[in-house]
Amino acid sequence: MVKFKKKSLSGSSKRWIQRHYNDSLVLKAKKEGFRSRAVFKLEEINKKINFLKTNQSIIDLGSAPGSWSQYLSKKGFKNILAVDVIKMEDLKEVSFIHGDFTDNNVQQKILERYKIINVVLSDIAVNTTGNKKLDSFKTNSICLDVLDFAYKNLCKEGYLLCKFFNGELDKEIIKYSKVNFSVNKIIKPKSSRKDSKEMYLFCKK
Ligand SMILES: C[S@@+](CC[C@H](N)C(=O)[O-])C[C@H]1O[C@@H](n2cnc3c(N)ncnc32)[C@H](O)[C@@H]1O
Repeated sequence: MVKFKKKSLSGSSKRWIQRHYNDSLVLKAKKEGFRSRAVFKLEEINKKINFLKTNQSIIDLGSAPGSWSQYLSKKGFKNILAVDVIKMEDLKEVSFIHGDFTDNNVQQKILERYKIINVVLSDIAVNTTGNKKLDSFKTNSICLDVLDFAYKNLCKEGYLLCKFFNGELDKEIIKYSKVNFSVNKIIKPKSSRKDSKEMYLFCKK
């Protein structure tokens, strides 16, 4: 068990760091060479739904530090385009756009890259401020942009997997997905922390 005694850290920061370092999935990700424990959420969801096929063109939104793209690249996917507001270290078979997904120029760059988009993945979450309402509002409003982008640009029978939070705007997200997609499932992977309000919405066009 790793313990942190640094005086400059607040109690909650110490607890977060301690929990992070002692989390078995953080340790497992490190051991298997993945950049984050988030990889196990994508793996678990795909085991359940089996929607990822190596010939698909995939957009990975909110990709950094990169474990979802890493997972896809290791599985043999060749057409992966990752996008994040923060820089991401290079990965084999992964192109990267450094920018804000909600920016029209960034969306234009994505559309220039692929004629056909088979899958949109989004693990986008804004930096937390401690104000839970505000945090879920900000992340969920980006989620609505992702849904709209996927609805307009996914190919027929294309898939969307998108993170959202239980809270502000979640009803709007579910309503949008029901109106515009033929399949919609809400998934809380076991690998997602129990105390986190994050959920994943899976849709088929
Ligand atoms: C939970 S992390 C994603 C982890 C990633 N799936 C992985 O496997 O490593 C959420 C990411 O969303 C990114 N993000 C937040 N707002 C964004 C935006 N407007 N456009 C693009 N990326 C954004 C953050 O910078 C952060 O890297």
